[in-house]
Amino acid sequence: MKNIILTGDRPSGKLHIGHYVGSLKRRVELQNSGKFDKIYVMIADAQALTDNFDNPDKVRANITEVALDYMACGIDPAKSTIFVQSHVAELTELTFYYMNLVTLARLERNPTVKAELKQKNFELSIPMGFLTYPVSQTADITAFKANTVPVGEDQLPMLEQAREIVRSFNGLYGETLIEPKAVLPENKACLRLPGTDGMAKMSKSLGNCIYLSDSADEIKRKVMGMYTDPNHIKVTDPGDTEHNPTFIYLEAFSTQEHFAKYLPEYANLDELKAHYQRGGLVDLNVKKFLNAVMQEILEPIRLRREELAKDIPAVWDMLYKGSEEARKVAAANLADVKKAMKIDYFADR
Ligand code: TRP
Repeated sequence: MKNIILTGDRPSGKLHIGHYVGSLKRRVELQNSGKFDKIYVMIADAQALTDNFDNPDKVRANITEVALDYMACGIDPAKSTIFVQSHVAELTELTFYYMNLVTLARLERNPTVKAELKQKNFELSIPMGFLTYPVSQTADITAFKANTVPVGEDQLPMLEQAREIVRSFNGLYGETLIEPKAVLPENKACLRLPGTDGMAKMSKSLGNCIYLSDSADEIKRKVMGMYTDPNHIKVTDPGDTEHNPTFIYLEAFSTQEHFAKYLPEYANLDELKAHYQRGGLVDLNVKKFLNAVMQEILEPIRLRREELAKDIPAVWDMLYKGSEEARKVAAANLADVKKAMKIDYFADR
């Protein structure tokens, strides 16, 4: 069996550091590991339209932003096929056949869909396109025979549902589709990076994100304004590091080398944490260190992004090439699906 990756993001906003540690960084490592036969990275514009159908301009603008974010982080079009979902019409056809294998009740039970319906105030009047996006996501994955899907933790229910659809399909029509598995970050702090305000998730609507495209000043302002431990009032008070986003970020981003370079008084994060926990460590010093770490990580990404942004037509050329290539692969796999279902009536003409 071939090792194939398919993954992607909705272009509903620029990507932020939660995307970076939650999945982008891992994708780049997997890309450069040489262990994969093919890597597809999809900009899921059709899926983004399921909850932005009233604002296609926003989706369009963010296709460019996400493509820039990808390349700035090291996703390399020479090694990975970056493509736009809506260009691959075969995905829609697959979705239509897979719809027969899923019940309404099962879709309504999907925990990620459930949470999103609530968050978007869709509960009273659910758009069908939105409710069925897990089915279309199954099409995205299986159209490329992907076995590996590096994503954030919130996508686990999608993968579970995809595996169920694959099993039903293979059971009914014979072994055709590959059951995919998710690849998540190993570091707990990276699984779900909280917002700078301490809220459980970074989200554009909450204004608690640090973007990959943020300027050095914006990063500094956001880090210095971060929520910490509200009970750490006097410096001498014992502080909590476990629910404190500044420490969660350090857990996700800082390395031994960062300590040696910027905070040599402490050997590592454990020592810094211990000091905070027993009291006597001022939040400002933690934030200054975190700022140095974030600046070091984000500066090269931002500079590369600025360089790439100088030639937007080249970005669209790259996306077009990737999308054409993806379309060919999806078409071949769709033909296998139709054959398995015995609906390939005209295949031998
Ligand atoms: N649901 C993903 C997101 O919210 C985007 C996506 C669409 C995706 N299809 C996919 C991710 C297939 C992995 C595999 O960003």
